[in-house]
Amino acid sequence: MGRDSLLEMSGITKSFNQVEVLHGVDLTLNKGEIHALLGENGAGKSTLMNILGGVHQPNRGHIKIEGKEIKMESPRISQEQGISFIHQELNVVTDLTVYENMFLGSELRTKWGTLDVKEMCRQTEDIMLRLGVEISPKTYVRDLETSYKQMIEIAKSLLRRSNIIIMDEPTTSLTDNEVERLFGLMRSLKQSGVSIIYISHKLKEIKEVCDRYTVLRDGHFVGNGSMQEVDLEEITQLMVGKAVSTDAFYHEQTKGDPVLTVKHLTSEGNFHNINFTVSKGEVVGFTGLAGDGRTELFESIYGFRKKYSGDIEVNGHPVKIDHPKKGLQAGIGLVPKNRKENAIIKDLSVIENMSLSSMGNFERRGWIHSKTEREKFQHYKQQLNIKVHDPNRTIDSLSGGNQQKVVIAKWLEVNSDILIFDNPTQGIDVGAKNEIYQHIMNLADQGKAIIILSSEAPEVLRVCDRINIMFQGEITGRFHRDELTEEKIMEYATGSKREAENIG
Ligand SMILES: Nc1ncnc2c1ncn2[C@@H]1O[C@H](COP(=O)(O)OP(=O)(O)OP(=O)(O)O)[C@@H](O)[C@H]1O
Ligand SMILES: [Mg+2]
Repeated sequence: MGRDSLLEMSGITKSFNQVEVLHGVDLTLNKGEIHALLGENGAGKSTLMNILGGVHQPNRGHIKIEGKEIKMESPRISQEQGISFIHQELNVVTDLTVYENMFLGSELRTKWGTLDVKEMCRQTEDIMLRLGVEISPKTYVRDLETSYKQMIEIAKSLLRRSNIIIMDEPTTSLTDNEVERLFGLMRSLKQSGVSIIYISHKLKEIKEVCDRYTVLRDGHFVGNGSMQEVDLEEITQLMVGKAVSTDAFYHEQTKGDPVLTVKHLTSEGNFHNINFTVSKGEVVGFTGLAGDGRTELFESIYGFRKKYSGDIEVNGHPVKIDHPKKGLQAGIGLVPKNRKENAIIKDLSVIENMSLSSMGNFERRGWIHSKTEREKFQHYKQQLNIKVHDPNRTIDSLSGGNQQKVVIAKWLEVNSDILIFDNPTQGIDVGAKNEIYQHIMNLADQGKAIIILSSEAPEVLRVCDRINIMFQGEITGRFHRDELTEEKIMEYATGSKREAENIG
């Protein structure tokens, strides 16, 4: 054990229901470093951290902190050891206020034994200020956007003044600005001697912020080292066991008739005078920065939002869509972003989750009848490489990325003419991304009209025929992919450039 090492996990083995998922894994964390924990979906990252956090007990193996062996028998013991844990799945209680969430289980009291609301609010405000987030401590969490909920999770861990902070995909629902703030904060925590274990599938972020890495593959330790000495390709190779292509999926296709035409669509404060057409067999991307209005735009087109003006035509016929049912009837499907909140039902099994046709609309639709649930499930399990031991268990027995694959799979079979994917590869590993893109391309080849909403420029560049860039609720640029680069996307996404006018 090195001079600087703070934590040493060795030979960690873990089984769930007689299936071994971690096979003698090692992890060493130094003082004051940001350590990336990497691996494909289902590799065992969250499980290893759940063991460090006292959530799960290992079957074998040792955990030492500053050389002393510790039995992490409960989350409380882990916390007492100075470890705090930002979970992959949001853990906030929506019916409580921000400050109540922050101090849940460790409420501050006055000398008379009553709750010290004033002090709890003050400390909450203090931390939120450091994170650059403007929320009042007394706001109910249910009224907040997802990114704020994520920030509360992060703020909670800062409150505890821990020596080790585990961050399991903390940035999945953060905006670019918030990510920058978080990185700034992580660097200053590191300066003050705090160590951070950082899990993410955004390899660029990893390269930017992490000092060292450990890679797991299928529950085995496969390597560790200094981040400076490897490039992203080597990391990918370690994770997946082979090189992963970053080539474009796009290929020239014959464009069919217009399927979706949108004219002068406007929703006060969300988007303004939106015009576009998507044809049969096309893959059209919408990208931009947070707050560009693309999610709200397509939630309106699908029927989640009622208040908008303008016209929508499907296959040349005007439609009035003010409920997701109407969207589905009109042949529009939407894969929502934020799996954690919108797309899965925790109490249902993996198979049942795959059979649900849409959120808020749990009735079984016609397309289920053509195949049995199980056949369909087996098909996608194989095609998308979904790691699942028993599909009759609840969906939270799957790793985060595999849950997302289930959400995607259920939509790949829907008989909608128009399929909208909002942030489809959130939490998906580099290799599995390609499998999902391939499926999307196949759907386009079958004549479906595909729309992809993504904040990641490389994603839209790899799969889309045409790309619309949005800024503050308006389309500022429309391009064929050949005309575009990441830099150019940035110029239009920040509003520093703007096209003359709307060509369909
Ligand atoms: N509570 C549980 N019950 C049964 N199996 C589980 C449970 N938690 C995790 N597993 C299994 O353990 C394996 C590792 O899962 P884990 O969540 O650690 O993966 P991960 O590396 O965090 O993946 P991701 O990047 O998708 O989040 C998976 O095969 C998963 O299905
Ligand atoms: Mg995980």
